[in-house]
Amino acid sequence: MVRKKNLLAVGIACFITVFSMCRKAQPFNDTGYDSRLSGGQATVFDASSKAFTHMIAGLVGTDLNAHERGDVAFEQTFVSAPAPVFGGLGPVFNNVSCISCHHNDGKGTPTAGTVTSSLLLRITNGLTDEHGGPAGVDGYGGQVQDVALFGIQPEAHWDIVYAEVPVTYPDGSTASLRKPTYNMQNAYKAISGGYFISPRLAPPVFGLGLLENIPEGTIASFADEADKDGDGIRGHVNYVYNPQTKQTEIGRFGLKANTPTIMVQVATAYQQDMGVTSMVRPQEASWGQAQCAGISGDNYDLPDSTLRAVAFYVKTLAVPARRDVEDAEVKRGEALFTQINCSGCHRTTVQTGMDVNVPALSNQRIHPYTDLLVHDMGDGLADGYTDFLANGREWRTTPLWGIGLFEKTNGTPYYLHDGRARSIEEAILWHGGEATNTKNKFMQLNKTDRNAVIRFLRSL
Ligand code: HEC
Ligand code: HEC
Repeated sequence: MVRKKNLLAVGIACFITVFSMCRKAQPFNDTGYDSRLSGGQATVFDASSKAFTHMIAGLVGTDLNAHERGDVAFEQTFVSAPAPVFGGLGPVFNNVSCISCHHNDGKGTPTAGTVTSSLLLRITNGLTDEHGGPAGVDGYGGQVQDVALFGIQPEAHWDIVYAEVPVTYPDGSTASLRKPTYNMQNAYKAISGGYFISPRLAPPVFGLGLLENIPEGTIASFADEADKDGDGIRGHVNYVYNPQTKQTEIGRFGLKANTPTIMVQVATAYQQDMGVTSMVRPQEASWGQAQCAGISGDNYDLPDSTLRAVAFYVKTLAVPARRDVEDAEVKRGEALFTQINCSGCHRTTVQTGMDVNVPALSNQRIHPYTDLLVHDMGDGLADGYTDFLANGREWRTTPLWGIGLFEKTNGTPYYLHDGRARSIEEAILWHGGEATNTKNKFMQLNKTDRNAVIRFLRSL
């Protein structure tokens, strides 16, 4: 009896949901375009905590199989070698699986010095390596691994201290930003000479197949290095080394557009974040450390097929559809977003190129809210860390699609490259450098309009 009642309640709830969805579903504007489709055909309708975890439509056969195998490997906790599968973790690493940093395929949480950390710190001596990338620090390489297998010392731990910095709007409203300081602790080896660090929080991993498919010429056309239009926004492409092709290519991934392809990104994650070597990144992250000298780097830890499957999995994760696109406040916020020129960097509409193998990623009109360029974001966000052509004040424009779902996918959401911002508002207030004009215009809006901009972002 109780059971029947519950079913009835569920039935009614479903009916109401469907009914209200039907009522709200008037997505077609005058041009007949469905503005909910942030990822074109590669869009999925789910606004739950699993919104970022879905496969694009249309995968069959070996593609479907590769995506599914990649999914399993992405969620798999790796163990130390020897193990028949998913072995090779460490000896030093930051975390034990992809999913433990990319929560629900989304963003991480900025804790440091714990095994659950999804914040990592890159390190450089300030020089460039033979490929024009950041040179590592003796005994540490390019990333500080804060966890290690039994019997080995983690390279170091990080202590993060936040200081509150008050901000006042022209209309007298106030906000508070927290400025982080990172202190290295328990370093396993003293660092001789100066060094620069770059704290980075795991970003979401969906929609990347679309971003990989934007023609290079399109991205380059967004750059305005000489600021010819005088809006203060310049931006430039980052060109980076691809260890697979051994060539310099356009950078698209990573928080400074410091990685050329999904494949290289995934292989680097395995190597640097988990200590798992592969054909693309054959050298252990602990290479050159006396304490790990006995650990053989002869064999790749990861089979090529697994590497390919995980890269394909990431490439074929769909973009969540927008919600509330016909809401009046959302629409006003959307207009303001363009009016105050947030769209000068967060490009609203981009066309992807051809991908004959994956139609849902091919020739799609998408709304990623990024230009994939790097921009000077001012002193407040600067880390002093140069990554190929991106200098210590520059960051890649963050794609904003899905940002309104971070509360669902993460519980407590954090924003910006190191998770210092606790709200979308705080993230905007941190903007400086090339974004100063736009940030000031945002601050000069009245509270109703500022809320509309944020409401719009929450619809993404
Ligand atoms: C310790 C936390 C951590 C782990 C573990 C981790 N990642 Fe990441 N991931 C990051 C960070 C931080 C970045 C940004 C890197 C950069 O700026 O170079 C990133 C970036 C990425 C990106 C690029 C996203 C973008 O928008 O450019 C992809 C794809 C990715 N990771 C996939 C993976 C895969 C696959 C695994 C497992 C093999 C993995 N990650 C494991 C922290 C992590
Ligand atoms: C000059 C280019 C530029 C302009 C203009 C700009 N942004 Fe950004 N935006 C960026 C970059 C670069 C980042 C990443 C900064 C970082 O992580 O340190 C970013 C990050 C963000 C984030 C955080 C995203 C996340 O997932 O963490 C939000 C929200 C955001 N911008 C909104 C806006 C809004 C709203 C405006 C207009 C008021 C705006 N931006 C104008 C370049 C720009």
